[in-house]
Amino acid sequence: MSRKLFTVGPVNVEPEVLQAMTKPMITHRSKEYKALHGAIIEKMKKALNTDQDIFMVGGSASIFLEGAIRNGVQSKSLGITNGSFGLRSIEIGELNGKVVDKIQVPWGTAMKPEHIAGKVGKDVEMVHWVSNESSTGVFSNSTALATEVRSQNPDALVMVDAVTSAFAMDLKLKELQPDALIFGTQKALALPPGLAMVVVSEKMMDKSKTVSNKGFYTDFVKLKKQNDENYALTTPPVSLMYALDFQLDRILKEGMATRYARHQEMAELVRNWAKKNLYGIFPEEGYQSNTIGVLNRGKLDFDKFHSALKTKGYEISNGYGEVKENTFRIGHMGDITSIRVKELLSVMDETLEEMQ
Ligand SMILES: Cc1ncc(COP(=O)(O)O)c(C=O)c1O
Repeated sequence: MSRKLFTVGPVNVEPEVLQAMTKPMITHRSKEYKALHGAIIEKMKKALNTDQDIFMVGGSASIFLEGAIRNGVQSKSLGITNGSFGLRSIEIGELNGKVVDKIQVPWGTAMKPEHIAGKVGKDVEMVHWVSNESSTGVFSNSTALATEVRSQNPDALVMVDAVTSAFAMDLKLKELQPDALIFGTQKALALPPGLAMVVVSEKMMDKSKTVSNKGFYTDFVKLKKQNDENYALTTPPVSLMYALDFQLDRILKEGMATRYARHQEMAELVRNWAKKNLYGIFPEEGYQSNTIGVLNRGKLDFDKFHSALKTKGYEISNGYGEVKENTFRIGHMGDITSIRVKELLSVMDETLEEMQ
């Protein structure tokens, strides 16, 4: 039976997209490579509506969470967190020898400007947070947070982990003006895992020139020098780039406004279902993710429920982190449509009935 993934990532990849990976290999020092690299960057900028530089390297998204901190912070950053992935960037900073001040916002609630009031001192070089917290399904307003950061310390850089929001929810990059915004291929781009991307600002590049011990692989100065020539710094996953190029054409054909609206529609279907049939959803009203529904488990025997779904060919995701035991997650991002979400929900209805 084919697998129907409603997971938080990696997500389902359409057969025609997978097929695009099978084109003959080329070397990354060829004219064909330059054309491919240049086309991808141009299409990503168009889709995300930004003029900022975008770098890509082989690796999962965390490589650029680490890279952005290593390029943007010599000594001290401030991490705001409302879940597992906010903690991830804080840990990365600490493991790289930085001092990281931490602001903990309750799990399930959004990070808001008032949480950082008076907290961005002159010695804070970067403030980082997650746009769409995948453990709790909370989508915070990154532009409001960035504006607050800059009002307190105009020199502080803003790093946004957009791993589960980019390409599914409109991050309005021209307003947000992120200094680093990070995502990967295996979430709303609906591709296999293996490429990480970062949108960078000139301010980030200026800072990177002054920071020491950045390592080699994600040195933004080295990356930019190559990227400006449509080259990669190290050997890139060319096959995955073929699929990315193909997928970006499909995405632009759909249109970003339609894509964002489709994700919202799928999210509303799941939220309404959870309110009607189970115990509602976990995240704060008004700040709910359009890519991940995090549902309260209540009295549901989730393991039994999920096993039954799997025998019917459907896969969803467990809870994560601190709320692992009280929630479960439904991923609805990438190429999934409302029709497929409705199909999943009716199988979930049927399964609940069978469990009674
Ligand atoms: C919000 C968020 N940040 C970071 C990551 C880590 O991404 P990766 O595994 O691609 O390094 C994930 C993965 O699920 C995520 O959901």
